[in-house]
Formats: sequence, C-alpha cells, structure tokens
Amino acid sequence: MRMKTDNNEIWYGKWISLPLSKRARTEPELGEDGNAAYVPLERMELAPAFQLRKKFIAKGKLKKASLYVTAHGIYKAFIDGVVIGNQELTPGHSSYHNRLMYQIYDVTKLINKEEHVLGFYLADGWWMGHIGFAGDDCQYGNELAIIFQLKLEYEGDNVEWVISDSSVVYQSSGYKYADLFVGEYYDATLRDKDFFLPEYKSDNLLSCKEENYAISNLMKQSKNEITVQKRIEPIKTWNENDSIIFDFGQVLAGKYKIHLDCGKCQKVIIECTEVLNPNGQFEPNIRETYKNQTDIYICSGENDVYEPMFTYHGFRYLRISGIKYKKQIVFIEALSITSKMERTGEFCCSDQRLNRLQENIYNSQCSNMISIPTDCPQREKAGWTGDVQIFAPTACFNSNVYSFFEDWLSDMRFEQKENGEIPIILPYIDGYKRIFEGIFSSAGWGDVCIILPWVLYNEYNEIDILMDNFEMMERWVSYITSCVSNSSERYIWNGVFHFGDWLTPSVSINFETGEVDMMQSAYATKDMVPTMYYYYSCSLLIKICEILGYDKKASYYSQLSGKIKKAFNDKFVDENGVLKSNLQGEHVLAIHFKLLDEESEKIAFARLKSLLEKNSNRLDTGFLSVAFLLDVLHDHGADELLFKVLFNEESPSWLYEVKNGATSIWESWQAIMPDGKVAGLSMNHYAFGCVGDWIYRNIAGINKLAPGYKKILFKPLFNVPLDWAKGMHDTVYGKVICDWKKVDSKNIEVRLAIPEEATGLFEVDNIKSCIVYNTNQEYKAADNERISIPLSAGEYELKLQLL
Ligand code: BGC
Repeated sequence: MRMKTDNNEIWYGKWISLPLSKRARTEPELGEDGNAAYVPLERMELAPAFQLRKKFIAKGKLKKASLYVTAHGIYKAFIDGVVIGNQELTPGHSSYHNRLMYQIYDVTKLINKEEHVLGFYLADGWWMGHIGFAGDDCQYGNELAIIFQLKLEYEGDNVEWVISDSSVVYQSSGYKYADLFVGEYYDATLRDKDFFLPEYKSDNLLSCKEENYAISNLMKQSKNEITVQKRIEPIKTWNENDSIIFDFGQVLAGKYKIHLDCGKCQKVIIECTEVLNPNGQFEPNIRETYKNQTDIYICSGENDVYEPMFTYHGFRYLRISGIKYKKQIVFIEALSITSKMERTGEFCCSDQRLNRLQENIYNSQCSNMISIPTDCPQREKAGWTGDVQIFAPTACFNSNVYSFFEDWLSDMRFEQKENGEIPIILPYIDGYKRIFEGIFSSAGWGDVCIILPWVLYNEYNEIDILMDNFEMMERWVSYITSCVSNSSERYIWNGVFHFGDWLTPSVSINFETGEVDMMQSAYATKDMVPTMYYYYSCSLLIKICEILGYDKKASYYSQLSGKIKKAFNDKFVDENGVLKSNLQGEHVLAIHFKLLDEESEKIAFARLKSLLEKNSNRLDTGFLSVAFLLDVLHDHGADELLFKVLFNEESPSWLYEVKNGATSIWESWQAIMPDGKVAGLSMNHYAFGCVGDWIYRNIAGINKLAPGYKKILFKPLFNVPLDWAKGMHDTVYGKVICDWKKVDSKNIEVRLAIPEEATGLFEVDNIKSCIVYNTNQEYKAADNERISIPLSAGEYELKLQLL
C-alpha cells in the first residue's frame, strides 16, 4: 500500500519493529532532590543495539539511488558495510509523535555491482534510552523500529524500490548497550565483520515485524542535521593512578575517536568530565544517576578504532583506564558535534577576555544546539524553553538559526496544551512531568512562544514566522488571562509555581561553599516576575498584531496590558513609588519592560544602581533578567557603572568565569570556586551567555532599525575601555561590518560596510566632528549634540575627532 506523509513523500517502505527490543518503561525511584536515587550500572537495564540487514539486487544501468530512512531509536545506515552519509545520531530529536524527521541520502556511488546489502545499527536513543533529569526510559515507545526505502532509478525511467518489510532480518550486535546519556558498551570481539556483506550467512537471524505505525508525522530533515563540527587534539596528557587523562583544552559536546593497540579482550573504559577537581585530578562534575557518560570498549586485538555511535557526552577531559602502557593509545581526538548552521557573527576587540567570552558563548551555543535547543549536553539534554527565549538574540547573531528554531516552534505548536499552556521543556517527556507533578508551564519559559518568533522576525525579516505562530501566541496569553481572572488579585499572575528569575545568584548560591539551591531563586521571585512577563508578552503581541494588520486585536492587547500595568503598580509599587523588591533582577525587568511610571522608574533605577554598588559592581540577575541589565544601565546613562559590571572579574560576573579558565558558559557563576572547588553542575549552559547580543550591539555597534537589518544603526560605545573592536554580522541582506580603532586620545577611525538593499545610520554622541572619507563630507557637532549620518549601501571610512 502507498501511504502519503504531510511532506508529500510516498512511503513504500513499512514500519518494521524488532520484537527483541521490546521492554517496559522503568521509572527510576526519585531521591529528595528529584534526581534518580543511586542505581549501579549493572542494574540500569541498559539495552543492546541491534544490527539489521536486507539483501538486494541492482540490475541495469543505474542513474541514481536514494535512501530514505527514519527510526524509532537512533540508526546508522550502511551499504555493504560502508557508512552512509556524515550525519550523527539520526534521526535526531523532535516531538516524535508529531514530527519525526527522515533523512534522504544519495547512495548512487555505493551501488556499483549486482548484489548488495543494506544494513543498519539501531539503538535506544531518545526513543527508549534513559533520558531527561531522572533517567526515565521508553519515553516515546517500548520497541525499536525502522522504516526505509531505497529508490533505484535506472536508465530508461525504470524505477525499483527496496523497502523495509518483514524480509529484513536482525540480531544483537557488538553493542552490549548503547544509551544516549549513560554511554556505550561495545565488545569488538563480537563484531561480525561480514554481517553487512552479501555473502553473510547465519542461523541466528530474526525477522522484523511489520507494523502499522504512523507515517503522517514523518517530515523531511531540514538542513540542520547533526554533524561533527570540529576535531580537537589533546593539549595535555598525564597519568593518574592506572589511567591516562587527556585534556582537549575546551569543554564540548560530542565524542572522540580512539585507535587502540591492545590485546584481544582487553577492557578499556573511557570516562568524561568537564572540569578537574581542586587537586587537578579527574572527577566527574556530573554525578547523578544515569548520567555516567562512560563508554566501555572490549578490544578485538585488531584494528581497534572506536568512535561512539549512539551517545554523546559533555566533556573536556577523558580518563582512559584499562590501558597497560601509554603507547596502547595510538591516536585520540575529540569530536565536537552540533546541528549544522552557518556562522553569521564575528567579534574581536583589544581585550582578550571579551574575545574569550564571545567564543565561550558560541561554544556553548553549538554544544546545545543538537536537534533541539538544550539546556546542557550532559545532565539533561532537554529543551528548556526559558533558556532559549533569553538566549535567542545572541544565537541569531552567532549563527543562522532560522530553520532550526522554525522546526522547534512547529513542535511547540503541537505540544501546546488545549488550554494554551506552553511546556517548560520541549519536547516535554513524561519523565519530567513525573518530577514536576502537574506543572506544565511557567512564566518566562512559556513566553518563548512569543519572544522567539519575535526575535526571529526581527532578525530575518520573515513575516511567516509571526503568522505561523500567531495563534499559539494568542492562546498562551489567553491562558494567562484565564489564570489571572480566577486569581484573588486580577491581572496578577500568582498562586502557582513559577521558576521566576531562575538562579538569581544572591538567593540561590552559597558563596562560601559554592553550593546551589536552585529552587530558592524560584521561591524568592515567583510573585513579581510572572506578572512582568505577562505584561511583556502582551506588549510584544501588540506590536505583532500591528505588523500583521490585526488592529482590533492590537487594541485589545493594549487595553489588557494597561490593566496588567495598573494591577502591577497597585500591588508591587508602594505609595512612595518604590518597587517592593530588594533584587537587581526585578528592578531590571520593571525598568526594561516599561512597567513603571516616570517617577517610579527613576527611583527604581537609583535603587538598581545602589544594589549594584553594594554588591561591588557585580551582577545579581537570574535567567530572566540578566539579558537586560547592561541595556538598562546604558539607557539610563550609567555607562561607567555598566563597564564596571561587564569587566568585573569577581563572581558573579562573566569575566570571573573567563579568569578561571572557562571555555564555555557555566550553569552557575560559582561552578568553580575561587579556591578551585567544583560544584556538581553543568559547565556548558548557554543561558547566561545572553550577554553576547549586547556585546555585538554595543561594542561592535551593530543594531537593527528595521527587521532583517534592512536599516542598520551603527552605534558603538566608544567610551568603552577598549582600544579597538571589530564586528561582522552576516544578515539576510549580506555582511554588515563595523570596525573601529582609537588612533590616539583625540581620534577614532571607523570602517563600516552596508550590504546592498540595506541602508545605515551612523550615530555618535559627544564628539567634535566626523569626516566621511568616501563622500568627503564633514559633520560638526554643535554643543554636544548627537551626530547622525545617513548612509546608503557600500563601504565607508570615517574619522571621528573627539572633544
Ligand atoms: C535546567 C535549566 C532550566 C531549569 C528550570 C534546570 O535543571 O538545566 O537550564 O531552565 O532547570 O528552571
């Protein structure tokens, strides 16, 4: 029977399951902290990966051969034992029951004789592995399955299909287990070298079973397939007890390739950590159950080249044990993986610390864009929605993230609850629902459904992203509106759990011990922050309605936002106009979201300044407010204080991490204490890296005045304590460049590039004059007035004369 998918692809292949893979879900027992209680590796119920084969004949003169595949599980495909394509962890992760990606490979070159074998490995992956916070398994189903079809196009328009059906046979493989989080156990002595070859014969083959599983959810893989991004050689190696440690010089998400020269049956264990303990020794920073990040390889004694296939880890250091002497490791390299995206941002300046920070941000972005945007690559690998919304502008500067997020937003539309709620994690798997007992959404997390399309629209000038998601946005706001109309105080969103200004340092970190009690920041900020985000989402929705021409709706949301603002002020601002808060983050949000009247805003800003000063110019903002701190300081003319915060090297601060050797962005500012003590947290969490966007906009000075940078505002903060900075952003219209250099105490040279079809505006305050060489024009400022120079597409050189 021919079946059609949404993608208009016709599927001749049938879903086939592997009955031997069937198992019931385990729900690990939870400890008090919501993590899985300790379970030793042997009791983890880890499942093997299977190998499958189908023999076929290709007769005639072949023009083209294309293989279509997807799976319930992670697969790797081969023709006659040769790996097909360079994608990793196919079919990737998505909201599987709504959207399961299939891959198409051009395999023409591999079909060069008559008899062939189409082979596959198939492992648990996200479908059945121990994923998420507590390591629950079988989150999408209880059995592995695959669907494929090979299209053979011969000369003379003759087409043949080799399809998945009950003629496909399978058996267990050398992978005794293969879990995405725990790791792999590969016994190379069991490797059946001929399994994927035509002449292979065995009595132990089992037949796959045809199934009627859905195909309506099958969608073609978009261009962001997961691939190896970088191959990294170790920068240092040393012995520790009986093992060898390799340092790859950077925290990454991925795997490694190792060539071993060991005896048959020698057992080699490879463990991961992102950071060493204070004594400089190997000790895993992620210690929770089911997060072993450990692979085991049993050597065959010949050609032992191993590269994990069904797992990825977060690490910088590897500990290899089971080696008799160092030379048994002939070669090793780390392979970072990421969903493929063009890099669209470049930044560097005269302060290496800022350059390192931008690189670290980009590194954490790549490590956490693996099919879906994740919080971290080791502990959870989960699509936490709050992390994404705050980081999205920075992500847009660094890479072309449009189709990556477009896919994820389509999953979001599927997973939005009937009542409009948007999940805190997407895909929202049962394992998390179990821990969060009924909590589905949270302020600042669910708002991703408005903020992310808004950010993408502004970045790429694609109105479709607003139209496609508009209904979802409205349903989210109307969900909140239904909550607040039942609440004791109308338009105040409280009474339910919210993550609040997550990881606000002063309320969640113990600066003496480095320990973090994450929930404390939720409790401390969950009263005020939800209404702030309700207001913010509403105010974005007004703009979106105006763009889409929905005038009536725009006026509805502006009335609604007026009511929220009033309720907010009634409740959270006292009779003297003072915001009832002691936290920087809440002040930042109230000011940035424009929730206060003029007088209260002045008071709030003065308070924010004093909070910062009392905190030795160190930030104290959580996930939801951190992105706006520097903007608020600049908008209120406090550049001097702003630079003290940005260039601060004491924790909490961005440069504290850099000073302490960070190569990524940490989950907690104190993840490494000044004395070297390490908290058991993630060292690869992009959320606090949202400052990257501010650096591009204000130090490189590249801003948009119209969506897509059709009109660019160049406005670097020349008063920043730097000698020079260079910025490039590859926009939908082409490359925008802004480079500047302080030539001496009186002069600055600037170089700009504006792509075709775009225009620019160069703005600068407090200077004497500006010469634009290309047009030979000189602009003089009268009485400290701002100089604004409109520019058309082209390249420019400017010289500024300072006062
Ligand atoms: C994740 C975060 C996430 C948070 C929810 C954590 O476990 O790693 O990044 O946003 O939970 O507040």
